[in-house]
Amino acid sequence: MMNMNNDKDRQNKFLEVMKLKDGTPLVSVDLLEWLISQGFFMKPAAISHHGNYTGGLFDHSLAVMEDLVEMTEKLNIEWTRPESPYIVGMFHDVCKLDDYCDKNAMDTVVMGTGSPISKNPDWIHNPNRMMKGHGDKSVMLLSQFINLTEEEMLCIRFHMGAYEGQDAWDSFDKAIRKYETVLWTHTADMYASKVQDV
Ligand SMILES: [Fe+2]
Ligand SMILES: [Fe+2]
Repeated sequence: MMNMNNDKDRQNKFLEVMKLKDGTPLVSVDLLEWLISQGFFMKPAAISHHGNYTGGLFDHSLAVMEDLVEMTEKLNIEWTRPESPYIVGMFHDVCKLDDYCDKNAMDTVVMGTGSPISKNPDWIHNPNRMMKGHGDKSVMLLSQFINLTEEEMLCIRFHMGAYEGQDAWDSFDKAIRKYETVLWTHTADMYASKVQDV
């Protein structure tokens, strides 16, 4: 794995891995530009939990994507379309783009997503975020760029599994019964964050 020290390295790694085995690219120019403008290659994955460093969100997303692709190969998991484990893994947490912002760039007006980032960011919870939610929010944000399959939507929606809260238990249960990949997505997210510590 290439050493990723900055957002340019992370962006190059992203372009290198977001391809099917036959080389078909999986990211449109519009989506790439949006990801860059939202700070996908710089933002943290958390403020006080794991991944609370510059670039943490991408590092975690990459790990979940690679785990999901590896599980798909080893367990012969079938998805509705071959790009699904890449899309689900890499983009399950795009909701976080609007959850955190750089305190050192707050003198510029911040309106939710797309807030500016300084050279030495000091990450805080975005006080001006426009949308609450987590998996459901990721699905909404992605719908601007990708026509998600029902399976991809449910995998991203329920990637927190039972941690989503008791209200969601029944629908999580039904989603797993319809698509076992909902369970594998949650497992890949847990494996990356709790075992690989990424
Ligand atoms: Fe998440
Ligand atoms: Fe995650």
